Amino acid sequence: YHVDWDARAAEKDGHAWFMLKEIAEQPQAVADTLRGRIGETGEIMLDEVRLTDQDLRDVDKVFIVSCGTSYHAGLVAKYAIEHWTRIPCEVELASEFRYRDPVLDRSTLVVVISQSGETMDTLMALRHAKEQKARVLAICNTNGSTIPRESDAVLYTHGGPEIAVASTKAFLTQLAACFLVGLHLAQVRGVKYADEVAAVVAQLQEMPGKIEKVLAGMDPVRELGRELAEAKATTVLFIGRHVGYPVALEGALKLKELAYMHAEGFAAGELKHGPIALIGGPSEDPVSGTPVGHGTPVVCIVPSPAGRGLLHDKIVSNIQEVRARGAHTIVIAEEGDEAVVPYADVLVRVPRTPTLLAPFVTTVPLQVLAAAIADARGHDVDQPRNLAKSVTVE
Ligand code: AGP
Repeated sequence: YHVDWDARAAEKDGHAWFMLKEIAEQPQAVADTLRGRIGETGEIMLDEVRLTDQDLRDVDKVFIVSCGTSYHAGLVAKYAIEHWTRIPCEVELASEFRYRDPVLDRSTLVVVISQSGETMDTLMALRHAKEQKARVLAICNTNGSTIPRESDAVLYTHGGPEIAVASTKAFLTQLAACFLVGLHLAQVRGVKYADEVAAVVAQLQEMPGKIEKVLAGMDPVRELGRELAEAKATTVLFIGRHVGYPVALEGALKLKELAYMHAEGFAAGELKHGPIALIGGPSEDPVSGTPVGHGTPVVCIVPSPAGRGLLHDKIVSNIQEVRARGAHTIVIAEEGDEAVVPYADVLVRVPRTPTLLAPFVTTVPLQVLAAAIADARGHDVDQPRNLAKSVTVE
């Protein structure tokens, strides 16, 4: 059995791992997913989605059903879709969805998100939704796979093949596709926030450039990964608010999958309701009693200071709270956000981005961090233990 390592290296564009190549491809993948779907005057053009404008006007409830990273994309989409369309939007784990006998009918739109299009949990949820006469729209990255074939309509992400088990570019292209669906629903149904929707359409097209900018500044994050790989931290916590909460969940999932570390994402507002008990300070030298190493690492995803209301101020106080209890704070915050500086042991800057679109830029450092820790620990970054790229069993 001979591996042509030169050919393998060429497949990875010189990257050590497919995952690193796919992280680097994200600006192009998002641009390709948006291309041809936004008109000159900002109208969203989803003709390929075989649902008529009337079908979409008849929708009175949206379910987004998926697994893992694709579930996290759905959680982000919920904030946007509900805000722009004023349609109730529930996000469900596919493996739970059909067993809880959800209320579905012809006016329900079920959006199934799947990179592979073969995930059995999601496929079974899709079949259940169709039995209940709901309309099913698939967001998928694999042309001609089972899930889009069995759906009423499909919006393909154009992320290109994703080889690494840990999903990265698929996630960002799923966000792009979900935002296109949300904006299209809003435009078809008569938007409540016409100006905001028009602004977001323009901002969405700036995302590839902003992701590129984040990628150019990842050396400190790779260095942090090498340090954390050595650290004896038994768990890493991720906290966020609003769309930063699904990003916290996604960052934790990446760390579990790649570094085999226990990691957990929380809504920052939940800290006081229990999780803050997990925070510990640095251990002490048994003889001298001096602190050794760091306290519990807490990755804090901070929304734009220019964003919604007190969201930013509240998470800054959460960062103060965990740091006061000994946490080692790793803060992802916008350029120019000075409020976080006194409380950040490590500060990772991302470009200014409107609140709802922030996941495009705040997720990337978390992907890079997890891959760096895994690589430093000698793990197979592309094929982590126990995992398959597509879970085709229930
Ligand atoms: C994400 O990094 C994992 N590989 C996994 O959670 C994945 O997102 C999930 O299995 C769903 O896969 P799908 O998008 O192909 O349906």
